[in-house]
Order: sequence, then structure tokens, then C-alpha cells
Amino acid sequence: MKLLIPGGAGYIGSHMVRYALREGHDVTILDDFSTGHQWATADCEVLEVNLLNQERLNQLLGGRRFDGVIHFAAKSLVGESMTKPDMYFRNNVVGTLNLVDAMLKNGCRNLVFSSTAAIFGNPQTEKISEEHPKNPINPYGKGKLMVEQMLESVCDAYDFNACCLRYFNAAGADQSGDIGEAHDPETHLIPNVLRSLLGDGDVLKVFGNDYATHDGTCVRDYVHVNDLAQAHLLGLESLDKESGFKAFNLGNGSGYSVLDIVNVCSEVAGCEVEYEVAPRRKGDPATLVADCSNAIKGLGWWPEFGSLSDIVSTAWKWHYASGR
Ligand code: UFG
Repeated sequence: MKLLIPGGAGYIGSHMVRYALREGHDVTILDDFSTGHQWATADCEVLEVNLLNQERLNQLLGGRRFDGVIHFAAKSLVGESMTKPDMYFRNNVVGTLNLVDAMLKNGCRNLVFSSTAAIFGNPQTEKISEEHPKNPINPYGKGKLMVEQMLESVCDAYDFNACCLRYFNAAGADQSGDIGEAHDPETHLIPNVLRSLLGDGDVLKVFGNDYATHDGTCVRDYVHVNDLAQAHLLGLESLDKESGFKAFNLGNGSGYSVLDIVNVCSEVAGCEVEYEVAPRRKGDPATLVADCSNAIKGLGWWPEFGSLSDIVSTAWKWHYASGR
């Protein structure tokens, strides 16, 4: 397939690009490099444009047909979205609308959209299925939900198909060790633990140890970034079989606490992780675990990197080799 991958220089997008190339697809990256990295791009066409620059976007995409668009280009820090909501809504909602407009103009009908568990807000059930109430508690999650709703309406009105994939905690790195997670500032748990081991970060802070979980620290569902990439291709293929709008939750279905992660990182790296307990981080729910049975049934997806030690080993290989 001929694929357009907006956000293909970012963390999950760059893994998607590598995965699609390995599967034999023809890839064009679209990125503004605001948070993406030149070093993360692969040997393929790269279009440098911000999705808010509608004129240039239409110019670059005019007359081009893609079999599928896999859209990752977004701001994605929950904390930042609380202090800069306007930036998040403009970038993530208006940017996606511009992309959809350009697709409609050029007869591109199939979109896979990078959504998030943050659309659900505080969990009301032990595991979160697609039917769980959607009450996002931060502008990041609200914007992603708006886009999902917008896409559903576009699918109803036009000959357009969309598959929204709501990730839980994307983690790990490509087995090659060439690319991996590198945000600035880094706020995510696994990179922070591993960077603290390499002496690149501050001493790890564990945000809160008084939650109602097995050890008092927050529980999350970590899913390998290449397993997410696999799901995106399956999502795209599914749009040819069954048109319209659809959405799936993507996780491994198992929860691990912050201290579980600290322990696995210690085992993988072969040294103790030093940490200090800090106050709770604003907006963190105690537990977020996916019910991913619909993705397994509906997409034929099966996460290859089910174990936490596989996830952490690939991340460690990347951080160790790159020094990032
Ligand atoms: N944590 C620490 N110390 C750190 C970093 C994180 O204790 O240095 C804790 C957090 O407080 C949280 C857990 O580790 O309890 C996981 O935090 P992350 O920042 O790694 O991930 P989040 O669960 O906050 O966020 C992820 C994605 C978001 C997405 C969200 C879905 O990064 O984009 O899952 O709920 F919205």
C-alpha cells in the first residue's frame, strides 16, 4: 500500500514507519519536526509541514492518492494540555480536520487515528472496554474524543472510513535499537527510570504511594510500540473489509504498578534503581487497564511483546545504545 504517516518522526510514528517499510509498503512521512526527530525518520519520502498550514498542506498533498493515512501528528503530554489547552485543541483537533479536508479533496478514504485511553477519564470498571463511559478529565483527552466524534460524523456523511486506536501506555523500542522514546521534557515512566540508571536524568520520583493499588503506586497497562504498529496496519486493512467508523482499545490487558516497573527495570539493567517518593501527580488515575478483547477478535491482533521484561529490554537497549 501507499501510506501517508503524519507524525512519522515521533515516537510511535517512527516505529510505525519502520514496521510498514519492513512489511513492504511504500511510506511518505509528514511531520513539522516540532517534537519529532530527523534522526528517527527512515529511508523514505519526508514532507515537512505543520497540519495547521492548510494552504501548504493542500499544495503538498494535491493530486496525490494514498491507500491509507495513519495519523500520529499530535501534542501528547497530559500535563502540558492542562496549562496550554488552546494549543492542544488547535493542534490536535483543527490539525486533524485540515488533514481530513485534504484527504477528502484528494480521494483518500481510509484513516487510522492515534487516539488514547485518556478519552475515558477516571475508570469506572476494573478493565476499560470500548463501551466504558467517555468523560475525559484533561484537554488532551477531550481533544482526542472530539476528533473521534468528528471522524464518526465524517464517515456518516461521506465515502470515508476511520479506525480509532486508543492506546494505553505505549512503551518499549524497536528491536534494532536504532529508534526509541525520546521526549523533551521526558515525563514518561520507563524512560525516566532507565535514564536515571544511566545518570542522564534526576533521581527517579515515584509520584504517590498512597493509591488504592497492591503497593500504593499507580497501575498502568504497558503495550509495546511495535505491537501498536502491527495494530495500525490491521486497522487499515479492516477498513477495506468493513467500511465506516470503528474504534478499539489497545493494551496488554495486564496492569503493573510504578514499583513493578522499577523492579523489572532493575532486573533488566542488572542494577538497583534509586528513587524517592514524591506527591501525587495531578490528573493521574490510580489504575488504567485495557480490555483489549475487541481488538483481538475484531482486528486479529495479538501483542507479540506481551511480557513487561520484553518491553523494558527493548527500551533499555535503545537508551543504553543511544545515550538518550
Ligand atoms: N510516573 C512516576 N514518575 C515519573 C513518571 C511517571 O511515578 O517520573 C508515574 C505516573 O505518575 C503514572 C505512571 O508513572 O502513575 C505512568 O506515567 P506516564 O507518564 O508514563 O504515563 P501516563 O499513564 O500518565 O500517560 C500515558 C500516555 C498519555 C495517555 C495516558 C492514557 O503518555 O499520552 O497514558 O491515560 F493519555
